[in-house]
Amino acid sequence: MAQSIAAPAPMAAKVDDHAASEPATPAAAPLVVHSPGRVLAVQFAVENGRPTYQVLRFGLPIINTSRLGFELKDGPSLAGGFKIAGRHEREVDETWTQVWGEEKNIGNHYRELAVELAAASGPARRLDVIFRVYDDGVGFRYRIPEQPGIDEFAIADELTEFVFTGDHQAWWIPAFEGNRYEYRYTASPLSRTDKVHTPITFQTADGLYLSLHEAALTDFASMALWRKEGTTFEADLVPWSDGVKVYGTAPMVSPWRTIQVADTPGGLIDSYLILNLNEPCKIADTSWIQPGKYVGIWWEMHLDVSSWGSGPKHGATTENTKRYIDFAAKHGFDGVLVEGWNVGWDGNWTANGAQFSFTEPYPDYDLDQLAAYAKKHGVSLIGHHETAANIENYERQLEDAYALCEKLGITAVKSGYVGHGQCIPRTDADGTVHREWHHGQYMVRHYRKVVETAAKHHVMLDVHEPIKDTGIRRTWPNMMTREGACGQEYNAWGGPLANQPDHTTILPFTRMLSGPMDFTPGIFDLLFEEARPNERVRTTLTKQLALYVVLFSPMHMAADLPQNYEARPKPFQFIKDVPTDWAETEVLDASIGDYVTIARKDRNSDDWYLGSITDENGRLLTLRLGFLDRDGTYTAEIYRDGPDADWNAKPYDYVIEKRPVNADTELTLRLAPGGGTAIRFRAEPQ
Ligand code: NOJ
Ligand code: CA
Repeated sequence: MAQSIAAPAPMAAKVDDHAASEPATPAAAPLVVHSPGRVLAVQFAVENGRPTYQVLRFGLPIINTSRLGFELKDGPSLAGGFKIAGRHEREVDETWTQVWGEEKNIGNHYRELAVELAAASGPARRLDVIFRVYDDGVGFRYRIPEQPGIDEFAIADELTEFVFTGDHQAWWIPAFEGNRYEYRYTASPLSRTDKVHTPITFQTADGLYLSLHEAALTDFASMALWRKEGTTFEADLVPWSDGVKVYGTAPMVSPWRTIQVADTPGGLIDSYLILNLNEPCKIADTSWIQPGKYVGIWWEMHLDVSSWGSGPKHGATTENTKRYIDFAAKHGFDGVLVEGWNVGWDGNWTANGAQFSFTEPYPDYDLDQLAAYAKKHGVSLIGHHETAANIENYERQLEDAYALCEKLGITAVKSGYVGHGQCIPRTDADGTVHREWHHGQYMVRHYRKVVETAAKHHVMLDVHEPIKDTGIRRTWPNMMTREGACGQEYNAWGGPLANQPDHTTILPFTRMLSGPMDFTPGIFDLLFEEARPNERVRTTLTKQLALYVVLFSPMHMAADLPQNYEARPKPFQFIKDVPTDWAETEVLDASIGDYVTIARKDRNSDDWYLGSITDENGRLLTLRLGFLDRDGTYTAEIYRDGPDADWNAKPYDYVIEKRPVNADTELTLRLAPGGGTAIRFRAEPQ
């Protein structure tokens, strides 16, 4: 029979306070811990010596009995032969404030059960499992305590299972493929998956929405999943080149394995489970961390109008950069990204990452002069560090590169790790070169080192080809945003990964549950017929505007060329107005892969903004503006698809209109096929 745990211990109790543990529980008795609102429950048991858990919602299982544990290489098994040796419980209910984000104040209310396992017989062995149960999800992690026989260890396999109760609809991308996690999402029953990345999102036949991911990935391997049978997934840690999954020293904690659960798709976005499971901010003075918007010498390379490499087409010239700085200053942008500024781009740079310098500019790029010019105009240069996944070359220069940024007032760096599959060179002590994955422990350590070095030098980060986000922005809020999915650039390149109209209606419920995305929205020349006549962007113009609200990023790019904005100043006004830091976020309506409408309140004013986007189908959506302040009156500045708009046939047809609204107004949004609406609700003075 399930046994409910007693009243929670006082908040001051610490989870690792073993002294407070209760006496050993009889081996067979399951332990149950409920979420504070008794929505979810986790049931933990040891069955034939094997630790297992189950997750229930309102008493019904959503994760059936699933295994827990590890196999160590050349060490004792941490998978079976256990008994429950102790347990510890507590409840935490607190609120903390984000330095920046989609919501200013975050509630963190959970009940925790920490279970101590010990070998039932034979040599001593210990493993702890810690569950945090929220109303909107569950996180659990392992702790391998210090113990005889386990000091330095190697994890050969993580056995964590997620046994689903049915063949749910899943939105997923494949893991262990060449293109990292830049793939189009597939919607299929979960039985049609094999190896998948997280976040992976599910809809059950009962209309529940679930998503699996992880939180606080600090010094471990990323977790992919493999479907071992039926509806059962097992953790599939990204290995080192020698096959070991994780090297560790006891005591060690794993990242949290997260299961989000909601009644609506929007409930997954409204959940801050992953952030809550991360450590509080480690940066004492965060005043230099400033969300904002940027333009840059970037899209022109992807259109092949200019080049990263030196020569007649070189994009990062002093003159061209001044043009962008002038444009940024005139229109109120905070930063100017310059790609191709540094030596190393000539020849096949993707194969020659070792030739990149992160301190030496090309001769036609006057770095010192430009940094001063930017500063004078109230703009900051954004540095670019493409590593081509040559970590050793980058790490050798890391300190110097970030010290240079600090010296010149370069407040942010966009980094890049282009490289395919298991390609990252790692040279061992005897000179042998091994090849590592982007998502293994080697790279987790690297990305963390960069975040900490950047923080030391007061530099914000925007990482392309990143390690996946697991909420570490709470701890290191200079880790602003990442790509880590097919972004806008795939529209310039074309091919099978070009964004289809439904792509951005899936991202918020999958990749973006892990954290912000640098999608680089705002393309106005949607057809770029002169540059690349065979490719195009598959949206209407106002859908590009709506993406600034729908896709959260504390740093958003206005990705198109200055002349394309100057040709359309009226819709450009929305990009100039829209903030990137929010006090509140509300998902008003959504169906994954079909449409999504999100409203967000500016963190620095009383204005609200709304973005609504659809897939290839036109839609008529009605919403009440109940999110607005009850006593307030607002002018809605509406940027919507025109009567003939259609992403394919007439993408440039738009209407801009203004109307007074308040919290009781009912608004009907007419979204064209592949279209969208963007609205600024300007608060009128009382
Ligand atoms: C791929 C990145 O996604 C893109 O933004 C960048 O321009 C290129 N790499 C070059 O660094
Ligand atoms: Ca990329």
